[in-house]
Amino acid sequence: MLILMGVWMGRLPVTRFKESWVWDDTEEKLYRRLLKGCKTVLHLFSGRSSLGTVRVDEKNFPEVTHRVRIKPVEGFRLNFGDASFDAVVADPPWINRYLTWLSKEAFRIARRKVLIITGCFWLEPHKKYAQAWRLKHLYVVKRVSPVVKLVFLYERSHPLL
Ligand SMILES: C[S@@+](CC[C@H](N)C(=O)[O-])C[C@H]1O[C@@H](n2cnc3c(N)ncnc32)[C@H](O)[C@@H]1O
Repeated sequence: MLILMGVWMGRLPVTRFKESWVWDDTEEKLYRRLLKGCKTVLHLFSGRSSLGTVRVDEKNFPEVTHRVRIKPVEGFRLNFGDASFDAVVADPPWINRYLTWLSKEAFRIARRKVLIITGCFWLEPHKKYAQAWRLKHLYVVKRVSPVVKLVFLYERSHPLL
């Protein structure tokens, strides 16, 4: 109640949290650069971004190519083959179970690179994929949204032929 009164009286700084995860140009440019050289890119939870050759989101934003509701549970698989895209990029909802799901599915589908943006959660490949992938870079992206973001770039340790 006191907080609400403070907001009403204009005493507290407030940012309305509405689609504040949408990437700005600088952020999107960074991810494009990190994926340079990848011809086929699967973008999961793509929202309003135009990055990627196939873009999956549950909502029908104009940029989305595949409207799919992902169930972040054990065993839920997307209809894409193993190592079928050069790279997988994902900026999922900032909830643990989405990262747990991605720790398998992104590393199964990607051939060369996995780029995952998290709201300050740690991300590792599932133990099934741990040997095949290594963390190449970890970026801290600041001042683009109400939270600091961690950006994980994984690469295959032994590229598939
Ligand atoms: C953190 S936002 C990413 C926004 C994106 N980076 C952009 O610039 O617009 C997460 C996105 O995941 C989508 N989403 C949330 N739950 C989903 C689900 N179960 N399946 C598919 N998409 C989902 C939302 O619609 C939202 O666009």
